[in-house]
Amino acid sequence: MLSVMALERQGVIPEQGDVLVTGANGGVGSYAIALLTRLGYRVVAYTGRPEETDYLQGLGAAEVIDRATLSEPGRPLGKERWAGAIDAVGSHTLANVLASTRYGGTVAACGLAQGMDLSASVAPFILRGVTLAGIDSVMRAYADRVESWRRLGELLVPEQLDAITSSIALDDAIEAVDDLLAGRIRGRVVVTMAL
Ligand SMILES: NC(=O)c1ccc[n+]([C@@H]2O[C@H](COP(=O)([O-])OP(=O)(O)OC[C@H]3O[C@@H](n4cnc5c(N)ncnc54)[C@H](OP(=O)(O)O)[C@@H]3O)[C@@H](O)[C@H]2O)c1
Repeated sequence: MLSVMALERQGVIPEQGDVLVTGANGGVGSYAIALLTRLGYRVVAYTGRPEETDYLQGLGAAEVIDRATLSEPGRPLGKERWAGAIDAVGSHTLANVLASTRYGGTVAACGLAQGMDLSASVAPFILRGVTLAGIDSVMRAYADRVESWRRLGELLVPEQLDAITSSIALDDAIEAVDDLLAGRIRGRVVVTMAL
């Protein structure tokens, strides 16, 4: 939600074109797709698991693209494609997303699933006025947190929460972490704590 708010604050509106969400099957990506779709954006989901296309389209993705298209080192500037993006992946993917963001667009960077490195050029910033908005939910100002939870409450519908979320017992957490790291989990996993 903080990433969506960052795009809004930078003036990205649905009429400007497609918004890319990377790490689409993950917790951040799944919610980003659902929220952006609800707000009227046309969302393109970027994933290494195209077999999850039905799930991603169910959340609202209008198009699903394969991770391989943006994950390798690329050029400083590419074809202008995205009005905005929410990137949970970092590394070469973030560099390529910046290079293919349209003039005046904004990329909200919130994750490092591919890597913490960022080997990019300044070309998207100084030639296309692209904004890179950093997102941190840990130390975020209280007012922004309140606003973010209020918006989540307004925008998310129970069916989407059900689709995105699964629950496990604490005893199953280690196995679930192995699955998460192996890319076998989609959405968010809630660990139910027995009282
Ligand atoms: N800034 C903040 O405050 C904040 C808050 C929460 C999370 N985060 C960060 O945001 C990122 C995503 O969090 P999450 O909870 O959504 O994690 P997650 O549920 O594990 O999802 C990460 C997703 O990234 C994709 N992915 C995994 N390995 C990849 C690789 N090598 N290259 C490209 N894509 C890869 C996968 O999606 P596909 O299978 O669809 O490709 C995976 O489902 C993490 O790095 C996390 O630390 C930051």
